[in-house]
Amino acid sequence: MNYRHAFHAGNFADVHKHLVLLSLLERLQRKPKPLFYLDTHAGRGMYDLRGEAASRSGEWRHGIGRLMDLHPANEDLCRYLDAVRAVQTVPREPPARYPGSPLLAAGQLRAEDRIVLVEKQIQEAQALEEAVGRRRGLAVVCGDGYAAMKTYLPPRENRGLVMIDPPYESDGEFAGAQQALQAGLRRWPNGMFALWYPIKATPEAARLRAGLQGSGLRKLLRVELHLHPTDSPLRLNGSGLIIANPPWQFDTQILPALQDAAAALTLEAAVEPPRGIGTAATDARPASPGHHPSAVVEWLAGE
Ligand SMILES: C[S@@+](CC[C@H](N)C(=O)[O-])C[C@H]1O[C@@H](n2cnc3c(N)ncnc32)[C@H](O)[C@@H]1O
Repeated sequence: MNYRHAFHAGNFADVHKHLVLLSLLERLQRKPKPLFYLDTHAGRGMYDLRGEAASRSGEWRHGIGRLMDLHPANEDLCRYLDAVRAVQTVPREPPARYPGSPLLAAGQLRAEDRIVLVEKQIQEAQALEEAVGRRRGLAVVCGDGYAAMKTYLPPRENRGLVMIDPPYESDGEFAGAQQALQAGLRRWPNGMFALWYPIKATPEAARLRAGLQGSGLRKLLRVELHLHPTDSPLRLNGSGLIIANPPWQFDTQILPALQDAAAALTLEAAVEPPRGIGTAATDARPASPGHHPSAVVEWLAGE
């Protein structure tokens, strides 16, 4: 496996995914009962935006780099930006670090909640262990996230979230992710799941949505952020999440946060563009001229 999330950390897809992740956890925490959080593809936890990988790709500059100066009224967007600000060592400078899903989740969850973070690559898992530190109720597992769904689901808490965020490096990964979501829901029918997928000019994302729509599953919400026209032949055009069993009224509540994020992503870059890399080889592109980034929130399958 070649995938290293360090190249992509803090890009617009991470903004979308992590904003939604923290919003889902906040809704779950409105009840005092303990939660279970499973991150099937956890990554290394903390990313150095001044490091070689992030500097070379420059993707974060067109993602979190455009949002750091915002102080939005929207509570969901505000919570996410505060969480990213909280890991910076020097405030009011371009961000130097970016927290991945495990750190964001662990930062928001409470002492009574249980957290399992699964990462397949040993070096990433070791870095993750260091980044999250030791804490009661938190486990870092070096292994296969899909196998972990069989081990840990259904959780004894019977409340919580499974975040499925594969790298989509191989052709079969869309089908694998869809099967994993379906199998997870068979094991834990009332569990909340969030499955991330890339939106490119190729038909896989539409096929995934159609496949889930035809699967007979209910309560599936499609939550997407489109930065470039969907048929743009370049690379990542949009970022998608399917949320199974979303919180009540999440569809109407998350839309304004995504619209605010989309508007900020169209702003002129607040930071220097990356040097020495061609845009064809990277997802570091500002929003396409003449195209307004947009959010899509709609039910794939309702009640
Ligand atoms: C997109 S990155 C995860 C980013 C992370 N979820 C975040 O938001 O910060 C995908 C990660 O999954 C890991 N991975 C790939 N296949 C896996 C598998 N079958 N089980 C667990 N981890 C896997 C990769 O090594 C990579 O670190």
